[in-house]
Amino acid sequence: MSKFIDRMAANNAQNGFYGQDILSVSQFGRADLDYIFTVAHEMRVLVERFGSADLLHGKLLANLFYEPSTRTSASFMAAMQRLGGQVIPINGVQYSSVSKGESLPDTVRTLESYADLIVLRHPEVGSAAIAAQYCAKPIINAGDGVGEHPTQALLDLFTIVEELGDVTGKKIIMVGDLKFGRTVHSLTKLLVNYDVEFTFVSPDILRMPQDVLDVVKAAGKQATITEDVHNCIADADVLYVTRVQKERFADLAVYDNLKDRYVVDPALMGHAKPNMIVMHPLPRVNEISYAVDSDPRAAYFRQMRNGMYVRMALLAAVLGKA
Ligand code: NCD
Repeated sequence: MSKFIDRMAANNAQNGFYGQDILSVSQFGRADLDYIFTVAHEMRVLVERFGSADLLHGKLLANLFYEPSTRTSASFMAAMQRLGGQVIPINGVQYSSVSKGESLPDTVRTLESYADLIVLRHPEVGSAAIAAQYCAKPIINAGDGVGEHPTQALLDLFTIVEELGDVTGKKIIMVGDLKFGRTVHSLTKLLVNYDVEFTFVSPDILRMPQDVLDVVKAAGKQATITEDVHNCIADADVLYVTRVQKERFADLAVYDNLKDRYVVDPALMGHAKPNMIVMHPLPRVNEISYAVDSDPRAAYFRQMRNGMYVRMALLAAVLGKA
């Protein structure tokens, strides 16, 4: 155990994230990703062997969530506690002074007086960057509206590496709500660091935003845009499925019309490669049938578990001191 802590301390001496905000995946280059994934792997071993460590003993995290969350909020709490730190959970802002009209800057100023780091989920694009301007302590973006979800993208990429051994040369299909789904925005921007091919499958009105397509183009990666998942499934190495983001629709009749457009079921899986993996950031509503859960290619529950290891690695990088 003490060897593990020594190794973490040595790692932290080389890590560029100490004391930094984590706002966007654009902060991560290949060397950073290798570093985070190596540490995440160690975190898995640590949890399986010992359950916890005291690397972040005495540190305090504030979990500030203005939007619903199960996995992101619980896995940050679990990650912090498994590393010996503690958490101030503010998951229902309706019970905080936010409901009295307190602004985001004042709320983060308050929490920075108590905690060493703030994890923030907020409905507005750019909110994490704004919070970071007002906050002397590191902010981790846990989803800023339809913008980014960088820690989800890290755990998604880690899952691809863990499941398939490598990212290089892989064909990645993203299907569903590519317009409002922040996880696919971040994951695409992260995957351009590798030699991959993209296929973006969605109804026309839920297409991948142009700024994300521009990043793909600027990186010289190939992207196919289609509405039909059947004609590309046979070649895929990764099928990344997303929920239609009901909460982003002004007109729920439009949502109702789109919500069941793509459903991954055993019949569709029958056309996929034997070693393809199905991923989903979760929660799923109807887009993956429960009959797929027992297929060994269903990686979404393993993906969810990886979230804790990756967030442990990130917290150790941002808060751990050599
Ligand atoms: C995602 C999110 O919040 O963007 N969930 C998550 O963090 N695992 C995806 C979603 O809500 O559809």
